[in-house]
Amino acid sequence: MTERCDLLITNVHAATMDPSLPGAYGAVEDAAVAVTGNKIVWIGPRRELPDCTADQVIDGEGQWLTPGLIDCHTHLVYGGHRAGEFARRLGGESYEEVARAGGGILSTVRATRAASADDLYRKAEPRLKALMNEGVTTIEIKSGYGLDLDTELKQLRVARRLAQHYPVNILTTCLAAHALPPEYDGRADDYIDLVCNEILPAVAKEQLADAVDMFCENIAFSVEQCEKVIEAALHLDLPVKVHAEQLAATGATRMAARAGALSVEHIEYITAEDVAAMAESGTAAVLLPGAFYTLKETRVPPIESLRAAGVPMAISTDLNPGSCPIASLRLMMNMSCNLFGLTPAEALAGVTRSAARALGICCSRGVLRAGLRADMALWPMETPDQLAYEVGALRPAEIFVGGHHVTAG
Ligand code: NIG
Ligand code: FE
Repeated sequence: MTERCDLLITNVHAATMDPSLPGAYGAVEDAAVAVTGNKIVWIGPRRELPDCTADQVIDGEGQWLTPGLIDCHTHLVYGGHRAGEFARRLGGESYEEVARAGGGILSTVRATRAASADDLYRKAEPRLKALMNEGVTTIEIKSGYGLDLDTELKQLRVARRLAQHYPVNILTTCLAAHALPPEYDGRADDYIDLVCNEILPAVAKEQLADAVDMFCENIAFSVEQCEKVIEAALHLDLPVKVHAEQLAATGATRMAARAGALSVEHIEYITAEDVAAMAESGTAAVLLPGAFYTLKETRVPPIESLRAAGVPMAISTDLNPGSCPIASLRLMMNMSCNLFGLTPAEALAGVTRSAARALGICCSRGVLRAGLRADMALWPMETPDQLAYEVGALRPAEIFVGGHHVTAG
């Protein structure tokens, strides 16, 4: 390392999540971390720290430092709310029945189309702040409540604007193939043509998306239709992600794996064959226990097969007005243990290292290691097992994004 650094944090324990270090957390007890610019330049046991001077020194007081958390799947820019549907579902209607009756995603599409960009921005701010206050330093935001060119662009521009004004990394994903808009009723193939030939090229031209997603499900788009979206995305050099097999087995996961997708998301209904295809293609699993919980699903993703095959298991909020109106990634960590059977260490890997894999950014984030971005959270806890166990009161004492100390407000 250089002899001078910008920031030196000492007297901390580091849950590095570095898989090359021993233990489930890659823990380094009594560690020191040196930061210059936006990167970690040295991390290791404090007694091995080379002689150096720092502009700022922070005494970590024996607390635990983790990578900044990564929420790799959200739909947090949207208009309106669906509290009425919540009541209907509590009364016995299913998510699919509500969707088929013109509610669900389409009800949020109507509200999002009607909202101004400023209104969408203002409504998104508290959701973003809630995540940031929990130590989330990277957030993915999808479009998909526009389903027409102007509104998809409006949603993505709002997401980019949030990134300009808040000290958090935001990656955006175009999910124009989320549902069939009412004006294309009975003409799903024509809508897919619009997505492939107009919406995605316009989004790419304005550099509004870092990836492309699609909802491959019986109530949304077929494997054949999604294959066209994937082809268009890859042609524009955009990586793909797929909402796959949340409600039924459809073959979406194998399709995604064939295309080398970054991730498949939800995946309650995948089979052993699907898991093998993911392992082969390096496609990450994104587990969304909050949607499983909200929709009162009973079919759990095949965690044991994913674990045995070494497929990275990311965990995310899926923050959206329908299947998961819950802006807490920490609660998702807890749910992933209680509902899906992950260990607390797998839960932390799910919101750091594996979430970075699911976003295609594991070369820069998700692990505390020299050369990677200094996105970090310092937690007043005695063991990192507390992160998946305690919800609500355990908050980060300090949050750093790109080496800068931040507060979400
Ligand atoms: O990830 N599965 C599809 N899309 C969202 C739900 C969107 C909504 O209900 O508004 C999801 O669960
Ligand atoms: Fe989703």
